[in-house]
Amino acid sequence: MDDRYFTPPIPNGWFQIAASDEIKPGDVKPLKYFGEDLVIWRSEEGELSVLDAFCPHLGAHLGHGGTIKGNSIECPFHAWQFGTDGRCTAVPYAEHLPRKAKLPTWHIKELANMVMCWHHADGEPPTFDIPDEIPEWGSQDGVRNDEWTEFVHREWKIRTRNQEMAENAVDTAHFHYLHGTTNMPQSEASIDGATLRVYSGAGMETPRGTVDGSIESLNYGFGLAIVRFKGIVETLNVATTTPIDADNVHLRFNFSVKKTAGAEMARGVGKAFVAEVTRQLEQDIPIWENKVQYEKPLLCDGDGPIAIFRRWCTQFYSWPDEQEAAQ
Ligand code: FES
Ligand SMILES: [Fe+2]
Repeated sequence: MDDRYFTPPIPNGWFQIAASDEIKPGDVKPLKYFGEDLVIWRSEEGELSVLDAFCPHLGAHLGHGGTIKGNSIECPFHAWQFGTDGRCTAVPYAEHLPRKAKLPTWHIKELANMVMCWHHADGEPPTFDIPDEIPEWGSQDGVRNDEWTEFVHREWKIRTRNQEMAENAVDTAHFHYLHGTTNMPQSEASIDGATLRVYSGAGMETPRGTVDGSIESLNYGFGLAIVRFKGIVETLNVATTTPIDADNVHLRFNFSVKKTAGAEMARGVGKAFVAEVTRQLEQDIPIWENKVQYEKPLLCDGDGPIAIFRRWCTQFYSWPDEQEAAQ
């Protein structure tokens, strides 16, 4: 289905591939993201590692039956072992370690119980950073902020690509016509390197009425968006979108509400908030799953800052040469 899009299939950036607490010391899990087979595991000392999945010996998948031995992962097929840096650390039946035996490693960073992984189509190291902490979640050393409720988690697999979904935030007209919100708030978009900030002064409509305030969305590339709703009640959505392959993405939402107005109120607002964001998302899904992406859309003066958004997007692709010249 590549012909639905004009952009390269999988963008570059930081993307969530797991939740930190899913991978405890000694755990191994197979993953499939970026069209690649990966294995994620945590050594007994607690170091997290993401490697290409297939053993360089005879090709077994380390995520299916691999086990943790100390600070190495052991292949289920012939028990070769690899360290967190992908180097072969032991072959139990050989006198010499094959010197070339090394598995490609992936750059990772843990943030607010998310394992974020750097993907680059040409294998280049990270060209931008993501925050070290999300204050509403807690501090970098894992101490939770108890002024905010426990995160409520939702996830979806959607047949679309990152840029298509991200464009929603700046597509102001669709909020009224697709989602039925009564006002059509104009949003402002500004670019700071890999970060796109989208700000709207209007509040959030919920089934229990409009909550006055503002919405600020900070997008760190295509993979991570931190959305803050400020009003009588403050709410947060940490949204991550990860390419599974060229046709599908994995979307995760993590909601939290500030407890200032009392736990009961926070729970009520939290519920209404999750319901509203989910309702809107489920209206967007059939659009995304069936639309095409125009390189030159026909825009009118009432559309939001789509042109600014598209300018920001181009930095996240490894463009084929002739296309790069045209950018
Ligand atoms: S295939 Fe992994 S040790 Fe042989
Ligand atoms: Fe939408």
